Amino acid sequence: MKGKPIAEGSKKISRAELIDLLNQDLSREYQAIIGYVVYSQVIKGAAYMNIAAELAVHAAQELSHALIIAEQIDYLGGMPTVQPKPVRTSEKATDMLQFDLDNETATIRSYRERVSQCEELGEYAMGEQIRQILVDEQDHQIALATALGKNVPVSK
Ligand SMILES: [Fe+2]
Ligand SMILES: [Fe+2]
Repeated sequence: MKGKPIAEGSKKISRAELIDLLNQDLSREYQAIIGYVVYSQVIKGAAYMNIAAELAVHAAQELSHALIIAEQIDYLGGMPTVQPKPVRTSEKATDMLQFDLDNETATIRSYRERVSQCEELGEYAMGEQIRQILVDEQDHQIALATALGKNVPVSK
């Protein structure tokens, strides 16, 4: 069981690999918290006031996601990371919104994989917690795409 190589094309992962992947998710949640805290305050312009207020709401939701993911890592016997993924900066509102949109799209793709990986390991409750986070991330993605006047990107 332990340290067994994964067959090519197989999706089955070990608990250690799940811990690593959840730590990447946690790094993305920290990135999202930082991005939303900063962007919600610095985005200016009448056209962006509604979305700026919305970003402050996202920041609080990302913190609750980080706590949930850290709890799952601890439950699996891992150590939650303290490293955020890098946060891009720009003076332009549209750039900031696009960075957030790109990150949400990547996050959704990752969490969709994570749900099936949790279920493959029989961790159904963990999969359910991540499904609930996914609902928020999809709301975030829709809010950002709408503010940018774009279609919601397909996360396949
Ligand atoms: Fe999140
Ligand atoms: Fe999000």
